[in-house]
Amino acid sequence: MAYTHEDKSVLTPLGFSLLRQLSDGAFHSGEDLAAQVGLTRARVSQVLKDAESAGLALERIKGRGYRLLETPDFLDAKAVRTALAEQAVLRGGGPRLTVEVVDQLDSTSSELLRRAQKRDVHGVVLAAEWQTAGRGRRGRTWTAIAGGSLTFSLGWGFEQGAGFLAGLSLAVGVAVARALEAEGFRGIGLKWPNDIIHRHLKVGGILIEVNGDALGPSTTVIGVGLNVRLPASARKDIAVPVTDLSSIAGRGAKDIDRNRLLACLVAELAAVLEQYAKEGFSPFAAEWQHRHAYQGKPVTLLLPDGATVAGKVAGVDASGALVLADGPRRARFLSGEISLRRA
Ligand code: BTN
Repeated sequence: MAYTHEDKSVLTPLGFSLLRQLSDGAFHSGEDLAAQVGLTRARVSQVLKDAESAGLALERIKGRGYRLLETPDFLDAKAVRTALAEQAVLRGGGPRLTVEVVDQLDSTSSELLRRAQKRDVHGVVLAAEWQTAGRGRRGRTWTAIAGGSLTFSLGWGFEQGAGFLAGLSLAVGVAVARALEAEGFRGIGLKWPNDIIHRHLKVGGILIEVNGDALGPSTTVIGVGLNVRLPASARKDIAVPVTDLSSIAGRGAKDIDRNRLLACLVAELAAVLEQYAKEGFSPFAAEWQHRHAYQGKPVTLLLPDGATVAGKVAGVDASGALVLADGPRRARFLSGEISLRRA
């Protein structure tokens, strides 16, 4: 997550090829860059200005040229596949996954949903460096920093229908938290229904979309967005309090290998999805509650119609619904936004 640009198509394919030239962190003269991509120097300067408005920090020095202050480890399908093969060895196998990485798309989830109209997207992982129309839950926008976020979607087919899949987004939250922990990020928590948080700050989000018959089969598109390195300038424009993985780990973005992280996330997701297909949400409910940062806390739940309900979080039920306690009374909720209430 997440900040919104006036013009979200700031990074053109040309911008990406310039950034790739600069990704060694060294100075490159405007002349050299122009020659490499077949543009004028003035156009190079304009494209790099656009890259700056996409959140990338550039240094310009007269006589030396341009250099990227923080060099993104660009996503690379080959590197993800290699890391996935290592994951399969560690796990003693795993389902077949097809990995595709693109520089730019409207939304990885929208693209997989479009493809699902025509063909099977089960096991297809689609990651984008930059989304021009990233979507969040409840119709919100999800934008990310080129080179500083992880935005991907995974297609998955289930024999069952929407009812069985009610707890899927929570199980996906468990998978993401497990993968982040396995990669050394400590203190990752969940916030109902499926925000990934750290000390009450949002570090990632999950968007699940389901297509199919009520009784099945169903095709799901599971979209995951994570903040890896969010520049301070970007955070002030975001409506909800956020953090990023580099702050959580207390290390620079350079140390976080997004290709490896992506492989670890999809390997864990695939394992969780295979188990979910057999057993549903119930085997994940206890772990989900354990990871829930609001478990046992007094909260206010904002319902989709704008009404609010106060209560203490008793947990989630076997279908993933939030259970709030008000004295001896218990009430279940299927959607809404929770916020902590001072006791
Ligand atoms: C949320 O609102 O918390 C969910 C955000 C989900 C964002 C991800 S980024 C990859 C995928 N493509 C999208 O357009 N959205 C999801």
